Amino acid sequence: MDLYRCFLPCMLLLVVVSGAVSDGTVVNRILGGSVLFNVSVPLQTFLITWTSNSLQIAQTFTSGGSQCFNRFMGRCELFSNGSLRLDAIRQSDQGEYTVTAQFQNFIVIESKNLQLNVYPLLNAPVLKFNSTYNTTPDRLVGGSNVTLHCDAGSQTVLTYTFYRDQKTICSEPHVTCRDSVLIFQPITETDSGTYTCTIQNSVSTNTSTSLRLTVIVPVSEVTLTTNTSDSLVWPGKDSVSLRCSARGTNVSFSWNLQGAPLPLNPRYNVTNNSSILIISPVSAKDNGSFTCTAKNSINNITSNEVKLNLASPVSDVRLSSNTSALLIEGEDSVSLHCSAQGSAVSFSWILNGEPLPQSPHYHITGDNSPPNSNLTISPVSRNDNGPFTCRGSNLANNETSNTLSLDLAWRPQGHILCSAKNDNQSLQLICSWPGGHPAANVTMVYNNVTEINYNQVIRNLSSIDNVQGSILTCKGDQLGKISSCTLTFESPQSPGHDNSTITRVIKGDYAVMTVDLRPGRQDRATNSTPQVLPAEFSWARLSPNFTTPIQTGDKFTVNSTNYTSSLQISDVTEDENGEYECRAENLIGSTTFTFTLNVAAKPVSSSGLSGGAIAGIVIGALAGVTIIGISVFFIVKKCAPKRPVYENRDIPPQHIYENAIKGVEMGKTNSTNEEPYYESVIRTDGAIYSNVPLRQ
Ligand SMILES: *[C@@H]1O[C@H](CO)[C@@H](O)[C@H](O)[C@H]1NC(C)=O
Ligand SMILES: *[C@@H]1O[C@H](CO)[C@@H](O)[C@H](O)[C@H]1NC(C)=O
Ligand SMILES: *[C@@H]1O[C@H](CO)[C@@H](O)[C@H](O)[C@H]1NC(C)=O
Ligand SMILES: *[C@@H]1O[C@H](CO)[C@@H](O)[C@H](O)[C@H]1NC(C)=O
Repeated sequence: MDLYRCFLPCMLLLVVVSGAVSDGTVVNRILGGSVLFNVSVPLQTFLITWTSNSLQIAQTFTSGGSQCFNRFMGRCELFSNGSLRLDAIRQSDQGEYTVTAQFQNFIVIESKNLQLNVYPLLNAPVLKFNSTYNTTPDRLVGGSNVTLHCDAGSQTVLTYTFYRDQKTICSEPHVTCRDSVLIFQPITETDSGTYTCTIQNSVSTNTSTSLRLTVIVPVSEVTLTTNTSDSLVWPGKDSVSLRCSARGTNVSFSWNLQGAPLPLNPRYNVTNNSSILIISPVSAKDNGSFTCTAKNSINNITSNEVKLNLASPVSDVRLSSNTSALLIEGEDSVSLHCSAQGSAVSFSWILNGEPLPQSPHYHITGDNSPPNSNLTISPVSRNDNGPFTCRGSNLANNETSNTLSLDLAWRPQGHILCSAKNDNQSLQLICSWPGGHPAANVTMVYNNVTEINYNQVIRNLSSIDNVQGSILTCKGDQLGKISSCTLTFESPQSPGHDNSTITRVIKGDYAVMTVDLRPGRQDRATNSTPQVLPAEFSWARLSPNFTTPIQTGDKFTVNSTNYTSSLQISDVTEDENGEYECRAENLIGSTTFTFTLNVAAKPVSSSGLSGGAIAGIVIGALAGVTIIGISVFFIVKKCAPKRPVYENRDIPPQHIYENAIKGVEMGKTNSTNEEPYYESVIRTDGAIYSNVPLRQ
């Protein structure tokens, strides 16, 4: 029925009221503030009434006279157009507000279409820090999870917003925002900054005071390295740089040597915030383990140990020999060794205060470690007694070793000699082997009497009578080396001499006759050398009736020693044919040796050449002593205007014929047109020549 009665006016009212505030409009207001519900009623309206939750608020007649009721009294005003204003809004004012307009006939139209929400003004929230670690915002550990809480207390908050340095951060990947909570998963160094949070409801916003977060990355990966790696470092010369590296925030470094803080020392300099230690120069005291410690407000870590490869100076240089035995010159060798402590030591050698001279018998070896550490003297000589020293040196210093002298011996010269000298009627026997070091022990045995002395033994016999046929024996002994000799007292003997006739000496050539008293060979069993008495020689030419001493001059030449003598006749002619004798006399007696010279005409050639002929003569008494395997020999031959071909073309025939002692085979002359030659010529020194032309 009511609906029917009000059909028209109601439609009208709805239209009018809706013109200001739509049906169901929600109005949010701050607690204590004012609200104006602005409506407009139709002209025909007689009475306007506002109610809230069935409680009458205000009423007015459009003809005038409005009134507020209940708790709204004094804080409400209802205008003639129907608009209502409320002041000093209370929380209890929140709710539905209905305005009713009535016509004069009391037809009523209701409209419950307004909602008033009352909110308080938001108080500032408090941004709180919450970490799973026991720490404070100024030293958060990078990598840990950290929560911030925007605490608004009991206030009703619509939205929470978080800011870092005035910029919202909830969209960053490692940040999660959930209502009042912000979570860093995890927090990083770049999250250091000033944080605020803002809360908001429908009518207000408020922002927290700021919270400063400082994120510190703990120290890690502390590594100590040197710029020298492993190479030798020379104290006093080299400098070294040690570098300490680490990850972390605001890392500071400190240095230790052998676990103790590095002492203050001008040699130690740190740079780059102490991350680099420069040691200049390095000293022997830097022998130890260096470490660095990297530290920040969270933790500290000590690095690996680094030891410098310090070079050490040369010390304890010692010279030694591989033997202390007596060393015999020319026979023994010795090896000297030099050793030393220290780095990269090399050695040099000193003899008698001077650098060791170059000599083929000094061999310095030791290529590896250490160089030149061995000196081999092979063989030793008497000048090597020293003193030797060696010097070890390296970049730091040098030091000289102890001195070392060798104990040297040397042999007497040659063989022991047996000899005898007569002085008027007395005779001096001598055994002599001098020059040894130590001196040789020399033993003389004569007539069953033995005498021993160093170097030589001399014995005087009062007379040379009864000497003939006796034997002097000498024996020498030096450090185990034995030498002996015998001397037989007899008149001169020439082994091998047979007074043979020398024939076929070629005219124009020369002839040589030789007497050699020396014994043939040494006695191998006793290693003793038979010796003979010295003799004097005289040469003469024999005629049937008389003997003519040889007058030396252009044609005759005599060469004599104590034991040999030779007569050379040059450019022989038939005039020199005949016998010659050599008389040798020693203190026991004399012996005569006879030679026969037979000069032959040149055997060849019609060309009238006057080829020289020669004769090598031999001499009789050859003993093979000094000469080995000699045969005698000799040659002859013809000559032609042109020289024939012969094998020893570089050797002049004169030279070949010198000392030629025997023709082994006569040369052949193939034809009259060919130059005559000898097939072979043998000399006293053993040389053999072939196809030698006759000398011109
Ligand atoms: C910190 O956060 C944890 C987990 O988010 C929570 O359980 C704890 O109550 C919080 N503590 C403080 C003091 O806010
Ligand atoms: C040394 O440290 C300070 C403070 O931590 C820093 O500002 C400076 O850049 C550093 N210098 C070097 C060379 O690392
Ligand atoms: C010493 O060294 C030398 C040379 O190497 C060698 O000939 C000799 O036999 C060594 N002597 C000893 C006693 O080893
Ligand atoms: C050589 O002949 C002379 C005189 O005939 C003789 O006295 C001498 O003993 C002989 N010499 C040799 C070694 O036969």
